Amino acid sequence: MSKRFYITTAIDYVNGQPHLGHAYEKIIADVIARARRSLGQEVFFLTGLDEHGQKVQQAAQAEKKNPQEYCDALAADWQAFAKKLELTNDDFVRTTQPRHKEFVQATLAKLHAAGQFYKAGYTGFYSAKEETFLTEKDRLPDGTFDASYGEVVELKEDNYYFKLGAHQQWLIDTIEANPDFIAPSYRRNEVLGFLKNNKLEDLCISRPAARLNWGIPLPFDPEFVTYVWFDALVNYASIADAHAALGLWPADIHVIGKDIVKFHAVYWPIMLKAMGLPLPKQILVHGWWQKDGAKISKSTGNVVDPIAVINEWGLDAFRFYVLRELDIGPDGNWTDTGFRSRYQAELANGLGNLVNRSLSMLKRYRNGVVPARSNELAADAAKAADETRALFKQSQLQAALQSIWGLVNRANKYVDETAPFKLAKDPAQAQRLDEVLYNLAESCRVLAVLLNPFLPGTAAKIYAQLGLAGAPDKLADATWGGLQPGHQTGEPAPLFPRKDEPKP
Ligand code: MSP
Repeated sequence: MSKRFYITTAIDYVNGQPHLGHAYEKIIADVIARARRSLGQEVFFLTGLDEHGQKVQQAAQAEKKNPQEYCDALAADWQAFAKKLELTNDDFVRTTQPRHKEFVQATLAKLHAAGQFYKAGYTGFYSAKEETFLTEKDRLPDGTFDASYGEVVELKEDNYYFKLGAHQQWLIDTIEANPDFIAPSYRRNEVLGFLKNNKLEDLCISRPAARLNWGIPLPFDPEFVTYVWFDALVNYASIADAHAALGLWPADIHVIGKDIVKFHAVYWPIMLKAMGLPLPKQILVHGWWQKDGAKISKSTGNVVDPIAVINEWGLDAFRFYVLRELDIGPDGNWTDTGFRSRYQAELANGLGNLVNRSLSMLKRYRNGVVPARSNELAADAAKAADETRALFKQSQLQAALQSIWGLVNRANKYVDETAPFKLAKDPAQAQRLDEVLYNLAESCRVLAVLLNPFLPGTAAKIYAQLGLAGAPDKLADATWGGLQPGHQTGEPAPLFPRKDEPKP
């Protein structure tokens, strides 16, 4: 049996409510997970929360709550959010869980025993907002630190350090030998450029408990807690270990945003090497969303509330827009107009109209009974299915949607070309009408299978309207000819109801 396909998202800081960026990353991972299952692979999909660290402690303090109660309350919202997105995650990690904390402590103890850490004094600048130490190099020309770091304070303290420098050349060689390890390739080039032009500084892996106690105590020195990133990155391995019987490690894909590449592509591989574990196969880096060309920010009110969008337009419309609009890699820009126009053009008038008119005509002209097989659109369907299969293996989700819409558009054009409503008026054209109706209904069936990872609710509705039992969840079923002559289809109903234009 082949190894399970193990895919993860970054684990989110639990210091507020989920927003578009968090939703986007989770949907990417969910679609890849569903696509792999559709390809016949066994999959394990992990997402969850990063609950320790100064950021979370401060957020809890601001609400006068103890950090654990604060996290517990918010974790419920984040878990509900995962359900709202219909994520098919197999586990949900919270870094405050004993299974994770124990694994982190065991890891630290092992690395300490192996001589990977040393204790030293440090004077420097710290950004709690980004949970990171800053150096002189991080100063702006005017001597200040960028506003994105929030308040930067000078600290003087002892800490434990992880020796990274010894692994620098090994990491360069590894990235060069594995072209797919960091994707897209421009992110890989950035990491290589960074590694070749800078000497890696040792990583501070502790915080004095006197300053920050919301963390995992170092097993070898109770005066310190673990640096939140050392704790958080280990989730990918601690949860694999919690399911040891499944043999999950190494992970196949870590899906992350562009701001945390260094943690995943530099620190994490070196940590794994020191731990004696193989590296993940790929770090897949997505870009950041803006709204209306400006940074998403709670304080300026420039936000997209995923839950509000889903409540108004449906989950599948949301999943579709974020993946169709933005390829995995570059930054994207959310506009409400762009969202509406894709909904109208591609979902309502494209896919929705095709399925609705195909099934309505089959019902009206043939009582919903599937006619004899005909293969006029078989090559178009095979092309979409072959391309989708190949693109799924490359995690090229936007390109897969484009290919699938190649079939949607072809089938809609076929309706216009063959004009079945005219054929229906001429009894001499009965056989021709049968052919057209078969090609349309069968195209809808193939589309349900191809679309299932992206639009699971819609795909299930198409199957139900076709009167098919089971789920469209195996790519192998996208082969032409699945609909059997004589099969009775179900009730057609609009998939994407038209929305009234907002009043000016
Ligand atoms: N807790 C760390 C990750 C630890 S992983 C071992 C963290 N959390 S976060 O909540 O700040 O971000 C979680 C993910 O959301 C990151 O991958 C980040 O890039 C992503 N996004 C946050 N805002 C985003 C956008 N505006 N657009 C797209 N993704 C964004 O970092």
